[in-house]
Amino acid sequence: MQLPPSSEIPRFIQRLQWVFNPLKLLETSAKTYGDFFTLQLTNAEPIVFISNPQGIQEIFTTPPDYFDAGRSNKLIKPLVGDNSLLLIDGATHQHQRRLLTPPFHGERMKAYAQIITNITKQVISDWQLGQPFSVRDSMQEISLRVILQAVFGLCEGQGLTKLQKLVASLLDLSGSPLRSAVTFFPALQVDLGAWSPWGKFLREREKIHQILYTEIQERRNNPDSSRTDILSLMMSAKDENGEGMTDIELCDELMTLLLAGHETTASALTWALYWVHNLPIVREKLINELNSITENTELNEIYRLPYLTAVCQETLRIYPIAMITLPRIVKTPTKIMGYEFVPGTLLAPCIYLTHRRPDLYPEPKKFKPERFLERQYSQYEYLPFGGGNRICIGMAFAMFEMKLVLATVLSQLYLELVDNIPVQPIRRGVTLAPSGGKWLVATGKREKVKIAVGV
Ligand code: HEM
Repeated sequence: MQLPPSSEIPRFIQRLQWVFNPLKLLETSAKTYGDFFTLQLTNAEPIVFISNPQGIQEIFTTPPDYFDAGRSNKLIKPLVGDNSLLLIDGATHQHQRRLLTPPFHGERMKAYAQIITNITKQVISDWQLGQPFSVRDSMQEISLRVILQAVFGLCEGQGLTKLQKLVASLLDLSGSPLRSAVTFFPALQVDLGAWSPWGKFLREREKIHQILYTEIQERRNNPDSSRTDILSLMMSAKDENGEGMTDIELCDELMTLLLAGHETTASALTWALYWVHNLPIVREKLINELNSITENTELNEIYRLPYLTAVCQETLRIYPIAMITLPRIVKTPTKIMGYEFVPGTLLAPCIYLTHRRPDLYPEPKKFKPERFLERQYSQYEYLPFGGGNRICIGMAFAMFEMKLVLATVLSQLYLELVDNIPVQPIRRGVTLAPSGGKWLVATGKREKVKIAVGV
């Protein structure tokens, strides 16, 4: 039986590198071993990293009952709870996905356009001309408010403001490589009181749960069939036996959407603003395209603007927010490109390494949106949202939000990067994000604001 090569770096060092310098670990391993290699990153089974499009295709198209994916996400259980879509498998997963998918697609998204553009305008109105600001903080605020309002149907008010602060603070606990270590080394998950990192985490999480449970209870007491937000849809959904979701299930799914959808989109937007302002030619081309928007431009047209789309795609290629998809745990002996995998093996299609393949993306370290205009990539060559039966359910929503926020910001303000502040990819919890700091500054208002909100 042929198995992919295992890294010879001592296990503990592999783990430390995975937390503190994951890209170096991936790049050196790929250079040494190629498209398939094995790393030992936890005390459990080793993980096979795969960056070959054919191998990825074979994984994504294998019937779902050959693999589990939820079981491999134990690390995030404290954040999202036992019933999270991210942690469940098999029929329960399929059933839950069916309930959660519709609000993220098609017509429904149009209703979110007004919310996204309004929130963006509110947040950027705080940017003072000439004063550098933290792009991360602003994008985080936009994406959190968007998700709370558009997805959960929570409107302005005390509950919203309180929840917004608590979630931002909870996520901040995993906001640096050092703090992320608590996630990866369960031994650090000890409650040593409100000031210890884990103690603080548990207390903040409890406060968020209380707000969510109160919201759920209020809706149970005052049902309103005209509401179309996802929480209402989840609450009215029934299975074949007429059973609805319990409060705990609802709470866990809300936490999942909140956490999966908010951090990721904020990082993607922060990177996009960095790249657009790092390369004058990209900014110029994008602004030229955005200048074609008029008050009568249909929302769909903004969504389909080719250069704006290519900029968002290239942003998610060069530093994908998730370095790997959810690892798939082999349940039934499986052959992938000649390798035979026994039950228990973890397979991780590696988004970062696939996106950096020079045979697919010439000059892979360069930010070149044009590559997406010149060539069509398959879903196994370009996979920022993963694939197969676990593909991100927020994919269309996230792309929609990225485009509308970027279009709104760029059509309102002239922005520039602040000199001498390097922006680097760093680990943020289980994701990869741009490093912080006040590296962008507004230098002027654009005279002709063409983007008509709510188009
Ligand atoms: C730029 C933004 C985003 C990126 C890069 C991203 C990326 C991903 C990736 C790579 C996966 C794993 C897919 C796989 O294993 O094949 C995933 C899963 C998931 N994402 Fe996203 N995501 C983003 C935004 C969102 C949003 C806005 C939401 C919801 C509001 C969301 C909800 C989820 C959920 C619930 C899953 C688990 C799906 C399952 O297990 O069936 N994500 N995402």
